[in-house]
Amino acid sequence: MIYLKTPEEIEKMRKACALASQTLGEIAKWVTPGVTTHKLDSVAREFIADNGGRAACLGYGGFPGAICCEVNEIVVHGFPSNYALREGDIIGTDLVVELDGFNGDMCYTFPVGEISDEVYNLCRTTKESLYVGIEACKEGNRIGDISNAVQIYCEKRGYSVVREMCGHGIGKKMHESPEVPNYGRRGTGPVIRNGMCIAIEPMINLGSKNVVIERDGWTCRTRDRRQSAHYEHTVAVVDGKAEILTSFEPVYEVLQDRFI
Ligand code: MF3
Ligand code: CO
Repeated sequence: MIYLKTPEEIEKMRKACALASQTLGEIAKWVTPGVTTHKLDSVAREFIADNGGRAACLGYGGFPGAICCEVNEIVVHGFPSNYALREGDIIGTDLVVELDGFNGDMCYTFPVGEISDEVYNLCRTTKESLYVGIEACKEGNRIGDISNAVQIYCEKRGYSVVREMCGHGIGKKMHESPEVPNYGRRGTGPVIRNGMCIAIEPMINLGSKNVVIERDGWTCRTRDRRQSAHYEHTVAVVDGKAEILTSFEPVYEVLQDRFI
C-alpha cells in the first residue's frame, strides 16, 4: 500500500529532510583523516537531538548507530566504529531523521583527503545517476523508469549496480512501499502519483555487482572488496514532478571546492 501524502504532510517531510540535510553538513565538518566513524556518529546523534529530531536508524531492527558508515567497500549499513578514516578513503554517511512524525532519509559519499581519479569518477557518476533517477520521477511515469534510468547511466560508464538493496517509499515510516530498485525495465512497476514520497538511492560498484553481508547481519560489502558509492535524496512528487526535499547544500558549503 502506497501512502500518498497531503500537502500538510509534505510540509512536515520538508522539515524532517531539512534537519537531515543540516546534520549531513555537521558531519561534513569532521570528515578528515584520523577521525573515527564513531565520532561522526556522535556528531550526528547530538545535532539531531539538539534540534528536536530523532535519529531513526538508532535501534531500528537493532541497528547500533545514528548513521550508517560506509567506508570504501562497504555498500550500506556499516556500523560506526573505532576505525579512523585514512587519506584516500571514501565514506558514505547515511542517515534518517524523524521530526514531528515524518522521516527524511539521505546519504552522501565523502572523499577523505585526496582520492584516486578512479574512485572520484565512481562517486561522481553515482551522484549524477541519482539526479538522472530523480528526473525520471514524474507523475504518470512508473517506478521502473527511475530504476532503468539509474541502471543505464551507470552501466554505460562501466560501473555495476547493486541488486540486493533498493530505494523505498518514505513517510511516517522510514521504509514504506514501493521498493525503488536501481535496475529494471522502463514502463514497469507502480505508477508515480502526486503525493508520493520516495527515497532514491543508487548504490554503485567499481567492480562486480556482487555483495555479501558480514556476520554481524548488517554490514553489506562488495564481494571483490572494490569501492562502492552511495548517494540518496528523499523526494516528493508535487505538481507532477519530483521536489527534492533533502539537500546537499550544507555539505557543499563545508567542502567548498573539495565536494564531489
Ligand atoms: N537509507 C538506509 C536505508 O534505507 C537507512 C538505513 S537505517 C538502518 O536502508 F537503521 F536500517 F540502518
Ligand atoms: Co534509504
